Order: sequence, then structure tokens, then C-alpha cells
Amino acid sequence: MATWIWLAALFCGTHAAVLPPPWADVRRNPCAAHPRGWLMLYWPIDGKCYTIYQKGHPCPETQELSPGRWGGRTIAECKCPPGTAQLPHTTTCHKLFERGPCRAGEYFAPVEESFNKRGERQGMCVRPQQCADETLLYWPADGKCYYRLSQGPCYPGAILDIGDDGLANCTCDPDSRNFWPLDGGCYAHFTRGPCDKGLLYLPGPRCGCESHMPHYHNETGGCYELDSVGPCPRGHTFRITQVTAQGSKAECKCKSFHARAADGACYRLYTRGPCEQDEMIARGGRCIKVPCARGRLYVPERRRCYRPGTPEPCPVGEVVAFDFDARPALDGLSHNGVCVCGSGSCNRKEVEACTARKGTAAYGGACHILNTQGPCPDGSWLVKEGTGKVKCQCRPGRVPPECNGDIDPQAKS
Ligand SMILES: *[C@@H]1O[C@H](CO)[C@@H](O)[C@H](O)[C@H]1NC(C)=O
Ligand SMILES: *[C@@H]1O[C@H](CO)[C@@H](O)[C@H](O)[C@H]1NC(C)=O
Repeated sequence: MATWIWLAALFCGTHAAVLPPPWADVRRNPCAAHPRGWLMLYWPIDGKCYTIYQKGHPCPETQELSPGRWGGRTIAECKCPPGTAQLPHTTTCHKLFERGPCRAGEYFAPVEESFNKRGERQGMCVRPQQCADETLLYWPADGKCYYRLSQGPCYPGAILDIGDDGLANCTCDPDSRNFWPLDGGCYAHFTRGPCDKGLLYLPGPRCGCESHMPHYHNETGGCYELDSVGPCPRGHTFRITQVTAQGSKAECKCKSFHARAADGACYRLYTRGPCEQDEMIARGGRCIKVPCARGRLYVPERRRCYRPGTPEPCPVGEVVAFDFDARPALDGLSHNGVCVCGSGSCNRKEVEACTARKGTAAYGGACHILNTQGPCPDGSWLVKEGTGKVKCQCRPGRVPPECNGDIDPQAKS
């Protein structure tokens, strides 16, 4: 919270470099002159000063006193704390993404338009989205589906199951088959869970590894979680490669769009990998000279370089763009050029259907669920403004630099 950052700076004696918040200004906040006034806000109804971000009196019980603006002055307003919201015409705050005031089977979701309006954080009751099948549960906070009884979005020691309210819940019941009495946690079977390296958490429950399991890795004699890096070198995943009547077997394979270089690790194609300064990894794991001039991208299908934004090598309506699947911090700079939706003229039907559907919005030719991370950076989510503009915004309860606010994802393409 901005206040606490500022307070911390004050106590560390570095406040000269930090701008105090507007409510510390006597001209704007009559309370700023009081002792500890910089922690106080003016409440016009009784003319008294109250401590900022305090819950309850003079606010309704679940709301907190927040700085608001009133004709150039900073005054106190009662708001729902971050991560909570109120139903219209009520003053009780409920946690978002839980049942809250809703009927069984529904959850309390934020109403995005209201976030920027004066004060109120509003919520509404919505039904969870459908996942592909019943083995999956919908987790409203990130809009994703996770396997039932997997760790999913839960902290280690808890697993995802259906709660009493019919919604997905991170839980750990001592009667559950996933319960591990030694540490009181619950773990998904066939993951490492509480076990030592090379062992998996198995029904029983016990930690074990057997050579007939698909998870068995012959070279190390250990068992590893599938689709993880397991015992493999960097850039690999340990995944099923053979399915036979005698059973399946997993092996270390390069991740998709990666190639194995001479050093045994796999690197994302068209990044530098272990190659020289002006080289990149090509198919087959060879280092080749980057064929493109500065600022151009390599389009492998054409074996040529193009300027970003060029329509030429792409299907109608699409243009060359940076490969946003490459993660520079992890993979290094990618020279790969991909085709993405240009000015929104491609996939028009899909995009129209997506825009018309409630709770979804089109971006980059793909359909995304609003109020989920979608194409946004960590800590941010996709919101639609009143004007219909779709952008990434800090999730409620997150402030920069924990998240990136107010990014127009369209601007990336
Ligand atoms: C969710 O799980 C927690 C922890 O096990 C439990 O206390 C809570 O009652 C559960 N909520 C629902 C709605 O089932
Ligand atoms: C497993 O390893 C042993 C000895 O290390 C070897 O003899 C055997 O052929 C390997 N099996 C497979 C399926 O690779």
C-alpha cells in the first residue's frame, strides 16, 4: 500500500526524496496539522479526524477509511478494502472470488467498471465458468481450470477440492486419501509432495518409486513428476514418450520450440542459447549467424527477416510481431517473428463472437476471459473499460511494482 511505502521511507529518514501523499498537505487535509495528522483523514460529517485505513467507525464495520477527493480537498471516504467489494446499495464488503452474499454455486466477482469510479468497489454474483469436463474445477481468481485433487493454485500442503458451497476450495481434510499425517498437509498423488527427490507421493499414502511406473527414469533410478523438468537438463521436460501394452514410459525431451545444443541442454529456437554473440540456435541445435539486420525478426517459414508490423509473410489481416511466448529473462532475446492479428480485421467472426459474449474480450486475435490474467503480466488482469477499451490493470489489492497497471495489451502488437 502506498501509505506504508511512504511511512517506511519516513522512518528510514529518506522522506526528502519521496513525495508525501496528498492528505499530508494541510491545505488539502485539515487534519494534517494535528499531531500524527499525516495518519489522519478529515471526516466532514462530524468534522473530526480519523486514522487512515482503519476499519469500522466512522465507516460501516467492514469498510475502511480511505482518502477521497472533495473539491480539491482530501477527505475521508468509506471503501471496501482491496480484495473485497460491496453489492450496489449496500455497505457490507465481501471477499471476492468466494461465495460471499451469493447463492449456492455462485461466487462474488468484481464489477470492473466501478473500480475507477469514486470510492466504490462493487461486486456481483456470477456462476463459475464451465471447464472442459468434471475432472476439472474452475478457480475464479485466475479464471483457470485445474484438476480436482491437484495442488492447482493452492499453497503446498493444500489441494483443490469442491467446498460445501459447490465452489473450488483449497483444503486439506485429515480424512482425505491425500492427507500425509507426518506433516499434516495434503498432496496430489504422483507428485513429489512431501517426499525426497526421486520419490513420488503415492496412494497409501507413502513415498515410493517403482521401475514399472511411467514416472521411472532409468538413468537415475528415481521417479519424477510428469511434465516437470524432473531429472532432466535445462530446457527439457520429463514426459511420456511411449505408450505400450506393457505400460508407458517417460523420457527427457526438449520443450516444444526448443532444440538440444551441443552442451546437452535445450534452448528456445532463434535465441542466443550457448552460441556466440551474433548467433542463434536453429533447428537441430546448431548455432547459426543471426540472418537479420537490427530490429528485424526472423520468420522461419519464409527463412527471411521482416520488420515488425509488416503484413507480407502473414495471412490476411495479420502482421509480423515479436514472439511474446519467449520470456527474455529466461530464454534471452528471441529473433523469432510470429504472425498476429493486425488491426483486428482477421478472425473477424471469432472476434465478434468473443466481443459479444459476456465476460470475454478479444486481444491479438484470441479470445480472453475478462478479469483473468490472460495476456497480462503477473499481478495484473484484463479489464474492459466503459469505453469498450480492453487493457491490463493491477488486480485489486496489488500496487506497482508488484504488477503493471494501465497497459494497453493491444499496443504490444
Ligand atoms: C474450504 O476449506 C477450508 C480449509 O479446509 C475450510 O475451513 C472451509 O470450510 C472450506 N470452505 C467451504 C466453503 O467448504
Ligand atoms: C536401464 O538401465 C540399465 C542399466 O543402466 C540398462 O541395462 C537397460 O537397458 C536400461 N533400460 C532401458 C529401457 O533403457
